[in-house]
Amino acid sequence: MRHLLDIDDLSAAELVEILRLATEPVDALGSPLSGQGVACYFEKPSARTRNSTEMAVVQLGGHPVYITRDELGIGSRESADDVARTLGCYHRALCARVYEHQVLEQLTASNAIPVVNLLSGDAHPLQAIADVLTMRSEKGPIDELSIVYVGDCNNVARSLALAVAAVGGTMSFAAPADYRFSDHDLDRIRLAGFEPNYLDRTDEIGATDVIYTDTWVSMGQENGRAERLKGFEGFQVDERLMKRNGDAVFMHCLPAHRGEEVSNAVLDGEQSRIWVQATNRLHAARAVLAWITAQPAL
Ligand code: CP
Ligand code: NVA
Repeated sequence: MRHLLDIDDLSAAELVEILRLATEPVDALGSPLSGQGVACYFEKPSARTRNSTEMAVVQLGGHPVYITRDELGIGSRESADDVARTLGCYHRALCARVYEHQVLEQLTASNAIPVVNLLSGDAHPLQAIADVLTMRSEKGPIDELSIVYVGDCNNVARSLALAVAAVGGTMSFAAPADYRFSDHDLDRIRLAGFEPNYLDRTDEIGATDVIYTDTWVSMGQENGRAERLKGFEGFQVDERLMKRNGDAVFMHCLPAHRGEEVSNAVLDGEQSRIWVQATNRLHAARAVLAWITAQPAL
């Protein structure tokens, strides 16, 4: 049985196939989830991910069931393993947004149901698939692009790096020293295909096709907010940076923290592609669900 906890659970060829499915018209995918349920478990809030995943299930003919953290009580009311086996009695897949990535690993342990990561502290693979679709449609083949991620080397940056690498691209990261990838992350990105290039300041960003940023304070990091805001001083994506790169598009997974990692003028400006990205979340979710539910069980 296949699961998607992060991009490197897929071979490069499988990622390319999912990207292809994402560009297929909805009708071409048929109704592979007809009469079946998909459990959508959320420990954290969500606008894009919940709505795009639920609508993707509907488009594939299935029925999404939204489940909150309190209802399942993973680790308190019931073990992750028992939860996965229970949901496997009713549903074709389990899509889950969790704090600890380890919980996803526990949910996959029994292979009772295919698990799709809807964001964990470590990874956000559906976002990365939507982002590759966006970069490709807005700027061209990924292996010909110069892509710079500015800010926190977090879950979004990690999955994006793995996805860009898998389709033959490279990325630079303008990030403060304390907020860069771990050695383990670097090994994974190298294995996927490129050596990450770090920039110490946004001034060092040269001619580029894509400038991407995400929040400096991810969900679950709120207690360290003041320290993090201080640590990221000077790393805001602002009009000056975008004007210096007049051909670049601006991307952000959202939600944006206006005036922190990005200025209002950039988010709402002509170079911004944030709504294309948000739209592509639906196409990415539909493609992943169509692909994963077509995989034979072991
Ligand atoms: N980009 C993203 O995952 O947004 P939500 O947190 O609103 O789902
Ligand atoms: N890095 C952010 C992404 C939100 C979609 C977070 O984890 O909160």
